[in-house]
This record gives sequence, C-alpha cells and structure tokens, in this order.
Amino acid sequence: MALPNPAKIPTFIQIVRWFVSPLSLLEECAKNYGDIFTLSISPQLTPVVIVSNPIALQQILTGDSSGNFTAPGYQDATFGCLFGPFSLMSIDSTEHQRQRQLLTPAFHGDRMRSYAAEINNITEATMSSLETGASFSIRDVTQAISLRIIIKLVFGFYEDESAKQMENLLNQMLNNISSPGGAAMLYLRFLQKDWGNWSPWGKHIKFQQEIDNLLYSEIQERRKQADTSRTDILSLMMSAKDENGESMSDQELRDELFTLLIAGQETTATALAWSLYWIHKLPEVREKLLLEIDSLYENSSENLDINTINKLPYLNAVCCETLRIYPVGMQTFIRRVEKPSQICGYDLQPGTLLYGNIYLTHQRQDLYPEPQKFRPERFLEKQFSPYEFLPFGGGVRRCIGAAFALFEMKVVLVKILSTYSLVLVDDVDVKPKRRVLVTAPSSPINMLITDKRNR
Ligand code: HEM
Repeated sequence: MALPNPAKIPTFIQIVRWFVSPLSLLEECAKNYGDIFTLSISPQLTPVVIVSNPIALQQILTGDSSGNFTAPGYQDATFGCLFGPFSLMSIDSTEHQRQRQLLTPAFHGDRMRSYAAEINNITEATMSSLETGASFSIRDVTQAISLRIIIKLVFGFYEDESAKQMENLLNQMLNNISSPGGAAMLYLRFLQKDWGNWSPWGKHIKFQQEIDNLLYSEIQERRKQADTSRTDILSLMMSAKDENGESMSDQELRDELFTLLIAGQETTATALAWSLYWIHKLPEVREKLLLEIDSLYENSSENLDINTINKLPYLNAVCCETLRIYPVGMQTFIRRVEKPSQICGYDLQPGTLLYGNIYLTHQRQDLYPEPQKFRPERFLEKQFSPYEFLPFGGGVRRCIGAAFALFEMKVVLVKILSTYSLVLVDDVDVKPKRRVLVTAPSSPINMLITDKRNR
C-alpha cells in the first residue's frame, strides 16, 4: 500500500531521532514534504502518516461520525502498558464513550470552579516553602503544585499520609521514565525486562507496584465506608453503574485513577513551567499581564472572582500562546482509517494509522507568522479554528481535562504573579525536548523570588 511521502531516512535513524529529538525530525520532514508524510516510528514499526493541515485534521478528528476514521485505544503499545487495559486511553468505541460520559462532569462548570480555593491554597503553600533569593527549578515547583491539585481532584484530599506517599512515588516514577531512554523503554517491548532494582524497567515495576498498592487500599477503604456526600472523582466512579447495574471493578478503577494522576499533572506542570518562563523572559509580556491582574484587585478584596480570572483576555492569550509555541502534547493520539479516504490529495486505505501533529500545525507560517516568536497578541487579534489551534487534540478523544487544565493554569499564574516577584536566574533561550509523553524544557529553568508583592 503506497503511503504519502515516506521519509527518506533509514528506519533505525528515524526511531533514534524520534526518541531523542522528535521536533527536529518533524521539522525536517515538514520542510521536505509539507503537510503530510510517513514515518516508521511506531513500536511495531508500522508506518504512521503525520498530518499538519487544518482541513485534513478536521476530516480525521471528526471522522468517527462518518465511520471513515476511528480513535482506537492503546491496548498493547505505550499507553496500554503504562496505564492498563481499562484506562480511558486504552479502551475505544462504546466503552470509551460510556466511560467519558461518566468522567466528564468532574471536569466542568461549577464542580471545576469549586476547586479554585484549593488550587490557591496549594499554590500558596508550595510557593511559601521557597526562600527569597534562593534559586529553584520552576518545573519542580509546578510539578509539586500540579501533583497536589490532581491528587485532591481525584481523591478529595492531598495532605494526609497516603497522599504524601502517592506524591512521592509518582514523582520518583515520573523521574525514572523521564529520560529519552525511559521513553524508549515504554515504547519498545524488548526493553521491558525486570533485571531488579538497578534496571530502569525493574525500578519502574517497583514504583508501579507500590502505587498500585496505595490505589487498591484506598479503593478497599472506600468500599468499606461508602460516603455519598463526597464529590471527588474516585467517589463519582465508585457510585456509577452501567446499563446492567454493574459497578466498576477494582482494576477498572485503578487504571482510570492512574491515568488521571499521570495525564493530569505531567502536562499541566510542564505548561505552567513554560508559561512562567515566557512571562519572565519577555518583560513586556510580564508588564501587560501584571497590569491586567493588578486591575482585578482595584475594587475587590482578597478573594478574587474566579469567573473574572477565567475570562481575563491577556492571561488567556498568554496561556494559549504557551500551548501553541511548544505544545506539551506534540501530537494527538493515534487515529485509524476505516474506509478508503482522501487526505491532502492522497488515497489512504483502511488500516492506515495517522497522527495529527499539533506541533507542526502550531508552527505553520500561514497561520502564525513568525511562529518561533512568543506573541500572545495573536490570540487577541484572531480567532483560530479548533483544527488550527489544537493543544488538546480534537474529536472523541479530545483531552478530557482541557477546561480544567486551562483553569488551573490561570488560577496558579494569578496567585504566583500577584503574590511574588520572580526572575529568571539565567538569560538563556530554553528549547523544548521530549520528556516521556510530553514536550518539556530541555534544561532546568531556574528562577528565584526577589520580593513579595503587596497583593
Ligand atoms: C496543559 C495540559 C494538558 C494538555 C496540553 C493535554 C493534552 C492532551 C492531548 C493532546 C490529548 C490527546 C487528544 C487527542 O488524541 O485528540 C489528551 C488526552 C487526554 N488527556 Fe490531556 N492534556 C492536558 C491536561 C490534562 C488533564 C489536567 C487531565 C486530567 C485530569 C488530562 C487527561 C487526559 C485524558 C484522560 C486523555 C485521554 C482522553 C481519551 O482518550 O478519551 N489531560 N490530552
């Protein structure tokens, strides 16, 4: 089956570059082949078609309704082995739809806004543990903040002993799989060998088992003492029943909890670190943002109105530009052609696998002039379609935490910027690199607090 523009790079080199520096591989191919090309980088070496044309992306991501394209789950590849067979990322079709319906209310509207006070408290508690004048890596700080927030969202608490153990283990597990080698270990089955505690996979299994023990013991605890007044995600899942009146099994609950804990913090922590980098890298951006945030306090008390924060235009533009320039998820999850289809003028046969490439779409010169420049104003001047700006993917698998993640970013940024004056320690240009599942800063972004602000 002829595929569009197969990259003329030896497969082995494609794989190595995909793990070590995927963005440069993508840029090179986009330069040579344009909006559509084919790489052999999947775990089974099945070729995948990479697409970065908004019209084609719309066709693919909305293709479930016509049956032309589907969003299959990750049963046996990366996500399947990490998250488990019952994770939202592993399941598909009706089961996926049912599970999404169950989880969606937890991330929307009033429920989400009710977390604002906790997000503020967690941010304040984490920031106040930092010494004025002492340098720290901003990603470590945003990781601690996001992890505590997601633990609170999922379990309803974050301060007790088991939450602290969970935080600790998740941190260790994420750090273990964060190197390019760690990513390779997840993608390539033959590297998944347990040679004891000193081997990366051995360590991974150990952390995973300890996390599972904590998750299962929390599930058991709740089964013994059902509390219908709780509003956290675990309680929501435990009270749900399917059409046959069956509740979720322990393993289904475990897989979903683990998925949300990882997907919900690694991404937001990285996005927050990038946004703080850009805000402090570019003084004019910081000034404009502070002007907008400070105006909030003019007529109001300590407690800022959450709806107002959510709608601040420049803050929103800064968050969008952060997610545009180096999108934390560089591509959508896999999609599959189900019926013969034409994409960007190429005929694709059933079974062909595709990735919507978010990074390359966000770097299109025709949509975003001077794409390497951080310029929030572009989001004030123009409305982008959901297939031109798609940091959270699209269609049936669009990120379930999208609204929550943006809301979290805004509340955390307002809290930090209104309470502290921060500076970057080094004036260097930080570039993105792979950090397992996300595109993170290539070197630590060190910052320090110079002063407390009077807010
Ligand atoms: C800035 C933060 C985030 C970014 C950039 C991001 C990005 C993405 C992307 C690109 C996808 C794939 C979408 C597709 O294939 O069309 C995705 C899926 C997903 N995200 Fe996020 N995400 C973020 C935050 C979150 C949060 C906070 C949660 C949960 C608390 C979350 C949970 C998920 C889940 C469960 C999926 C799989 C959805 C499905 O298979 O139906 N993400 N995310």
